[in-house]
Amino acid sequence: MMKKEQSNSEIDIVLLNNKEQLPLELLLLADPSEEQVMSYALKGECYVAVVSGEVVGVYVLLQKDEHTAEIMNVAVAEPRQGKGLGKKLILHALEVAKSLGVKKVEIGTGNSSIGQLALYEKCGFQKTSMIENYFIDNYPEPIFENGIQCRDMVRLTFVFY
Ligand SMILES: CC(C)(COP(=O)(O)OP(=O)(O)OC[C@H]1O[C@@H](n2cnc3c(N)ncnc32)[C@H](O)[C@@H]1OP(=O)(O)O)[C@@H](O)C(=O)NCCC(=O)NCCS
Repeated sequence: MMKKEQSNSEIDIVLLNNKEQLPLELLLLADPSEEQVMSYALKGECYVAVVSGEVVGVYVLLQKDEHTAEIMNVAVAEPRQGKGLGKKLILHALEVAKSLGVKKVEIGTGNSSIGQLALYEKCGFQKTSMIENYFIDNYPEPIFENGIQCRDMVRLTFVFY
């Protein structure tokens, strides 16, 4: 018999209580710097998407001050990408941030991350600023995506009204 394709409704998103179980491989899909990943993952709240005991997605939410939280990392396991889980994780993070009482949620990505920028805008984020040459100044190797050099960090903000 063919194995039933699991839909996103069968995926649970839960807070990871034990930081020793951080899904580092997934987190590194979104951010190649292990040092940075460990630094914010230990400070922030890490939520994982789990299906049949397997971690298939992750995000890290960090409250930066009384009014602001930031989604520091979001990633979906490669075989599960493009099926709506990334959007589900972002919307979940917005609900968690709302329950913290913050006024806005920020997220940053590279100028070349076209799919990610589309996803964040579809979730209600708006581009608010740009850190010029961020990826040139902070990463040892040039990064290319979609045939575009990743130079600047585009900052986006979701505001709760
Ligand atoms: C980015 C990532 C988390 C998105 O998760 P995903 O499960 O693949 O995305 P989804 O299937 O939920 O897509 C959500 C929406 O974004 C849109 N989208 C995704 N890529 C797109 C693209 N290249 N162009 C236009 N829209 C795109 C989808 O069409 C979808 O919109 P819809 O709901 O209207 O159909 C996932 O691809 C990933 O883990 N990538 C590697 C890590 C990474 O880059 N993380 C982000 C670092 S900034």
